[in-house]
Amino acid sequence: MAVPRPVEAQARKLRAEIERHNRQYYVLDAPLVNDAEYDRLFRELQELEREHPELVSPDSPTQRVGGAPLPQFEQFAHHTPMLSLNNAFSADEVVAFDKRVCEGLKTVNVEYLAEPKFDGLAISLTYEQGKFTQGATRGDGYTGEDVTPNLRTIKSIPLHLQGAGVPRLIEIRGEVLMYRRDFERMNERQREQGEKAFVNPRNAAAGSLRQLDSRITARRPLRFFAYAIGLVEGAAAPATHAELENWMEGLGLPVCPERRRVSGVQGLMQFYDEMAARREELPYDIDGVVYKVNSLAAQARLGYVARAPRFAIAHKFPAEEASTEVQAIEVQVGRTGALTPVARLKPVFVGGVTVTNATLHNLDQVRAKDVRAGDTVIVRRAGDVIPEVARVLPEKRPRGAVEFQMPSVCPECGSKVERLESEAVHRCTGGLFCPAQRKQALLHFASRRAMDIEGLGEKLVDQLVDGGIVHTPAGLYRLGLAKLAGLERMAEKSASNVVAAIEKSKRAPLARFIFALGIYHVGEEVAKVLARHFGSLAKFLDADWDALIAEKERVQKENTRRRNKDETLLAPILHGVGPEIIQSVANFLRQPHNREVIEQLRASGAVSEEEILPPGEPEGALSGKSFVLTGTLPDLSRDEAKALIEAQGGKVVGSVSTKTDYVVAGAEPGSKLARAKELGIPVLDEAGLLRMLKGS
Ligand code: IVH
Repeated sequence: MAVPRPVEAQARKLRAEIERHNRQYYVLDAPLVNDAEYDRLFRELQELEREHPELVSPDSPTQRVGGAPLPQFEQFAHHTPMLSLNNAFSADEVVAFDKRVCEGLKTVNVEYLAEPKFDGLAISLTYEQGKFTQGATRGDGYTGEDVTPNLRTIKSIPLHLQGAGVPRLIEIRGEVLMYRRDFERMNERQREQGEKAFVNPRNAAAGSLRQLDSRITARRPLRFFAYAIGLVEGAAAPATHAELENWMEGLGLPVCPERRRVSGVQGLMQFYDEMAARREELPYDIDGVVYKVNSLAAQARLGYVARAPRFAIAHKFPAEEASTEVQAIEVQVGRTGALTPVARLKPVFVGGVTVTNATLHNLDQVRAKDVRAGDTVIVRRAGDVIPEVARVLPEKRPRGAVEFQMPSVCPECGSKVERLESEAVHRCTGGLFCPAQRKQALLHFASRRAMDIEGLGEKLVDQLVDGGIVHTPAGLYRLGLAKLAGLERMAEKSASNVVAAIEKSKRAPLARFIFALGIYHVGEEVAKVLARHFGSLAKFLDADWDALIAEKERVQKENTRRRNKDETLLAPILHGVGPEIIQSVANFLRQPHNREVIEQLRASGAVSEEEILPPGEPEGALSGKSFVLTGTLPDLSRDEAKALIEAQGGKVVGSVSTKTDYVVAGAEPGSKLARAKELGIPVLDEAGLLRMLKGS
């Protein structure tokens, strides 16, 4: 049955329209319509093709979703071989290349077209009468695999060439790749669906293109860049490579915008340096840059050696990945006490430097990658980042390689190593004593909001610690004028200023002192709550922390129950200090060395023993005030309003009495509002409550 002319015309129009939008989106990165509009056009075409199956042809954009799986790939013989490129790894090799080119052409200062070297896989696309008919992988350069159905699914590959001057036959060459961002998202999806994740965008692109089932390829976010041609018939090819790429762009093919014409070695090196610097900001991976003699006539004259052109070269970036052996896994203690497992490596040249260590971040990472001493691993170093172990080569694992264990005591100071429940990091709990944490501990101790010892900055701390003069904060109070003045570049006057500042810091309020100890998780606010709760250093040191955690958890649980029943709540203990923080304090105070330092500090009078702190919770702006909530507030839920009031020390109760300070009323208030009015209790709306909470 013949398809009615108007239907055929409509299908043609829709196809052109959809392909135009594909090009705008995938090639020009400048979409003209939103997804909904695109989907509408697409569905309309699908509908037409469903009603008139004779309309369906392989070059319809609806066919980009892939088709029935192939039993195998057919071989594809390239019309002209797809050669590889010679590599240059240094400036010297680039100089030598340019010299050979100049000699070959008997000229000086040759012009080149320079562009990124894409880290994907080379393919060839054949267009006959402007229509995409066949595509193949590079294979061995002479014979590749016909992957036409798969290439059809790549939206940046036009199904039809556009514009005037479309040749009768043209073979486009370029690279299929995946953008890093698309790769990450795809891997996330793979993992969510329990499928295996790919190692890098290049492998993902290669794996996706070599699917016998093109419907799988269609779901993979592949892209394409054209950079050369093979055969061309029925059109005059341009005179230079730059014009050739412009021409391809005009035909609707995606061409890399980073291409540039440059002259001489200096121009080449400048381009290389710029691309190396901008590498991270490009959306796709590149592993170097490619230089091609710009004049096509000159290219023809230079010709080929063996399997590579004389007129082009790939100037590679230093390899970012290399394999080497893990000789040991050691643990480093950072300035803040965090333990980091580090792989000691057999030295290996990667990313332009020799690498002997690679961070393994934390125990979870070691487990996830299952790195063991003796393993052969891939080490990665990108840009200036710290080298890391990317993955293990399991087939090379020696027999008997044992799983890494985090030490239970700090390798620097022997204090216990702890890991809080919610964290990935193991920490040394010997903060006041551990040599690795000395400088940090002293700087924190002396800082303005802690003991406020003026003049004890980084430089002086370095001198004191490196000179072995001070080991712990307690040592500061034993520093005499003589010792300080004896330091290099320390004038008598500044030395006596520091001594005076140390003296002045004595008898600090308990909250400041607790903060100054540098206990993990104990900031100023937490320190205040602790100081108030215990009232004295002695009580703080003698606390039964396990009992406290248990009591805290009991009150929390009981209050959840009471809240649901709208009953009066129990007074919270250590308000705002969660069980994990308490655990951290307990871990710290359990270390005998920390206790020794605290005792020494106490003996030198660092902390006030006279200060009497009123027991109980810190005062909030609303403490002692009692609130009743009624009706629906415009923005805040009942729980939110309650939490806000309680956070400032207020109390929320269920019924209005003479003891109620405020009633907060929203829409459709109940009898509580009437009662409040009866008793003359101030009534607030939500805005009024928020103003009060802000303190204005
Ligand atoms: S031009 C006659 N340009 O690198 C010149 N090749 O390692 C033909 N490659 O086989 C190649 N990016 O697949 C050219 N911008 C680029 C390239 C590029 C990546 C590939 C190409 C080649 C391989 C050699």
